[in-house]
Amino acid sequence: MPRNDEFLLRLREANPIETVMGNYVNLVRRGRNYVCNCPFHSEKTPSCYIYLGADPHFYCFGCGAGGDVITFIMKMENLTFTEAVNFLAQRAGLEVPHKDPKEAARARLKTRIYEMNRLAANFYYKNLVSGPDKSGLKYFADRKLTPATIKKYGLGFAPNSWNSLTDYLRSKGYTDDEIVAGWLGGSKNGRVFDMFRNRVMFPIVDTRGNIIGFGGRVLDDSKPKYLNTGDTPVFYKGSNLFSLNFAKNSNTKRMILCEGYMDVIAVNQAGFENVVATLGTAITPEQARLMSHYAEEIIIAYDSDGAGQKATRKAINHFEDVGLRTKIIHMEGAKDPDEFIKKFGPNRFRILLDGSDDANAYLLAKCEEGLDLATDAGKVEVLKRAANVLAAIESPLEREVYISRTSKRTGIDVQVLKNHIDQMLRARKKNLKKSEWRNITSAAYQKDPINPESALHRKESRAEETIICYLLRHPDDAQRMAKEAPPEIFLTPFNKKVYTALLDRMSGGDRFSLSLLADEFSPDEMGRISGIDAKNREFTIDSTVAADCVKVLKEYKSPAGDQLSDEDLSDLFRSKISK
Ligand code: UTP
Ligand code: MN
Repeated sequence: MPRNDEFLLRLREANPIETVMGNYVNLVRRGRNYVCNCPFHSEKTPSCYIYLGADPHFYCFGCGAGGDVITFIMKMENLTFTEAVNFLAQRAGLEVPHKDPKEAARARLKTRIYEMNRLAANFYYKNLVSGPDKSGLKYFADRKLTPATIKKYGLGFAPNSWNSLTDYLRSKGYTDDEIVAGWLGGSKNGRVFDMFRNRVMFPIVDTRGNIIGFGGRVLDDSKPKYLNTGDTPVFYKGSNLFSLNFAKNSNTKRMILCEGYMDVIAVNQAGFENVVATLGTAITPEQARLMSHYAEEIIIAYDSDGAGQKATRKAINHFEDVGLRTKIIHMEGAKDPDEFIKKFGPNRFRILLDGSDDANAYLLAKCEEGLDLATDAGKVEVLKRAANVLAAIESPLEREVYISRTSKRTGIDVQVLKNHIDQMLRARKKNLKKSEWRNITSAAYQKDPINPESALHRKESRAEETIICYLLRHPDDAQRMAKEAPPEIFLTPFNKKVYTALLDRMSGGDRFSLSLLADEFSPDEMGRISGIDAKNREFTIDSTVAADCVKVLKEYKSPAGDQLSDEDLSDLFRSKISK
């Protein structure tokens, strides 16, 4: 057993879950276990259970929170896994051992990159405000950024030099390898040089306040306009958002999404704290999910050009998938929010936000683009396009509203239009098994963000959970199970991941504890795993039961004919609004 796991088991034993939880909530004994009012949602009758047994853990039947003592502290004190481990170690007077060498080196490199990024940001900032070359400062002044904004965002200027930052970092004790790993330097033929030169610099800060990377813009029209930090151990473009560190603290439930750094800064400077942008790529599902943690409604404020509008359609789909309301601002007389605010001022921008269209109105308005409603041919084409949008609106009430609007706009009799849409819907229902899948998947996604696929495979996912439960109770049988029921037979991704992790942690035939999973699974996921166990408490799950479940999975055949490929499925997830 790795030294690390050994320590986690000791840590758990030194921090009995009932003692630790008892510091936060009132525990009442019930048989061999305890119950309490759940600290993670408000309730009057206790539904949170603490199971003592061989692997102590908690589970709330009310809100689904659950896990071991480490998960509990992560949620309760809002800490990361490592922070929670340190917290509990301190509480019990244990010393956290060094991790295995590879992992320790990785952790150290991350820390070093954070430090270098901070030094670099400072270096760029100082160089901007008090360096000899004033061109960066002049650039920002031309773009109407105030000194307060420059300071707030820690903007900077990378000197026109091949080695000033690298020399500076070396003087602070950082090696060339570290500088290159952090993407602050590049290397060619063994020589290391400054990656960002003669560019104004935008530090990218995560929600914990770490500087994780940079965007750098040229001062003129040369290419590439923006250079962004590539993937490093602390930075991955698709999972962070520019200015989220500020936006997350704004106490509105709305978030504005712009296309670029300068837009965000201009909007923020105009008094809107709740604004973010992606980092030089189209928005990813992960970013949409991240935004859903802080907001209920998104206002997309992309550029008014073709690319911006195409990106808007994609973004609408991602937001729908995670259950966020989406609105789109309609900008006229300016190409992007930055320009709009400069031309018309913050008040007009606020009016723009308040008057933003919801996603359907936006898509319907788009149908008219390039067509002339005054001609019959134009009208027919608009109606063709609009019918597709209308037929895709899921709520009948909402559909009705937009059908009536479209009829007014085009002068087509409302009943005629309605009949046409109804016909389309009926036709779809008949031959499109796919659309059923789509409805199930997107509804399931909202109901069960942890394992949405379980809704598509109810029987099988139930079998999977029973197998997981069996394994939790019989870690000693892991080796046999691995042979008998390899993870490949699992259908739903989350259960497969849990099962794989369990087999992995149990493979040595050592003691097992849920604590060994807490670094790989989020607190929410830990809750689900605890729930799988808690909900099956009343049942005897022996090897015969497990074998039956394995059989269910092995005999699973995807429904013939209407089987969808993974690609189809992800298409359905994405393109609810197809042309
Ligand atoms: P824009 O070209 O719209 O830039 O690209 P912008 O933010 O409005 O910048 P200004 O106003 O010209 O200074 C939008 C975003 O796309 C990414 C950047 O994140 C930028 O903010 N981008 C653009 C790149 O990553 N590389 C590029 O070469 C261009
Ligand atoms: Mn711009």
